[in-house]
Amino acid sequence: MKMQWTDEYEIGIGVIDGQHQRIVEYINRIDDFEQSGDQEAMNDVLASLVDYTLSHFAFEEALMEDVGYQELAEHKLTHDSFRRQIERLKARHDQGEKVAVELSEMLLTWLLKHIMTDDQSYAPQVRKQLLTTPMQEQKNWVRRATERFFS
Ligand SMILES: [Fe+2]
Repeated sequence: MKMQWTDEYEIGIGVIDGQHQRIVEYINRIDDFEQSGDQEAMNDVLASLVDYTLSHFAFEEALMEDVGYQELAEHKLTHDSFRRQIERLKARHDQGEKVAVELSEMLLTWLLKHIMTDDQSYAPQVRKQLLTTPMQEQKNWVRRATERFFS
C-alpha cells in the first residue's frame, strides 16, 4: 500500500510534519521492496522505520511536555499501545515471519488517523508557544532533541 503525502496531513509544525512525512516515505519504500522482492533491503528499511517511528514518538512527547500540554498523559498512552504493536510485529519479523505488508498497512492507517486527531489536538498549543519563542531558541531545541532521540 502506498500513500501520497498531501498538505491536509500537516499540523503546522515544520519539524513534526517533516518527521511524519519521512515515516510515510519509509512505508512507501516497504511497498517498493515488497514488489521487487529484495529481502535484504526490506530488512533494512523495516529496521529503520521502527527505529525512526519510536524516535519520533519520543521527540513529540518531549515537545508536548515542554509546552505543558494538558493531555500529554493520554497522548503518551496512545503512543504506548502503538509501541507495543510495533514491537510485537518486529518480534515476529525477527523470527522470520513476513510482516512487512501488515506493518506498513497498520502503520499507515494508524499514523494518518493519529495525525488527524491526536496530533492536531496538541498542535495549536505548540504553535502558540512558537510565536513567542525566538527562532534561534527553536533551532537549538530541535537540535538538542534530535541528538537526544534520533540515533
Ligand atoms: Fe503523536
